[in-house]
Amino acid sequence: MEPSDLGTDLARVLLTQEQLESRLDEMAQKIDEDYAGKDLLLVGVLKGAVMVMADLSRRLHHPVHMDWMAVSSYGSGTKSSGVVRILKDLDADLTGRHVLIVEDIIDSGLTLSWLVSNLRSRGPASVEIATMLRKPDAAKVDVDVRYTGYDIPNEFVVGYGLDFAEKYRNLPFVGTLAPHVYSS
Ligand code: XMP
Ligand code: MG
Repeated sequence: MEPSDLGTDLARVLLTQEQLESRLDEMAQKIDEDYAGKDLLLVGVLKGAVMVMADLSRRLHHPVHMDWMAVSSYGSGTKSSGVVRILKDLDADLTGRHVLIVEDIIDSGLTLSWLVSNLRSRGPASVEIATMLRKPDAAKVDVDVRYTGYDIPNEFVVGYGLDFAEKYRNLPFVGTLAPHVYSS
């Protein structure tokens, strides 16, 4: 799908598919180096992290385990409430495991900081974070992120797993929406 296929829905393309892919190559290489000889469990956060998980994991040169969690930190709006609910928990036991949380975006950081302490309480050997996007200007809590794709401005973005009202997740690039899409 090309940005032009969206007609007037998109305000602008923030990150092209090529930019996402070349950064994923670099992130995967670092992860390969850092976890060489270790058993790694990737924990994807549904639904947004589906694309990052698929593309990042396929670039790794060692077999990994994958598991998924679904959490909710939003009411109806586009602001994190800080109240996190587990909608789907992990199947895996984390005891003694090296865990890498795979996320689409860190906005306020509230969801991730809650998730990290939740997973740390389960006795893993380590818990680190890989995120494709981060909004430094939106941070409300400090989250120690080991692997970051791109720092982006504090704007609502869609594509590459990210949605507006469950739409646009399948865009292979990251863009911002035209105001008429969310104000109508
Ligand atoms: P916090 O604020 O807790 O939020 O770091 C993390 C989660 O909020 C969602 N989120 C977004 N979703 N476009 C989206 O489609 C955005 O710009 C955006 N900002 C935050 C996302 O689910 C993320 O995991
Ligand atoms: Mg998410």
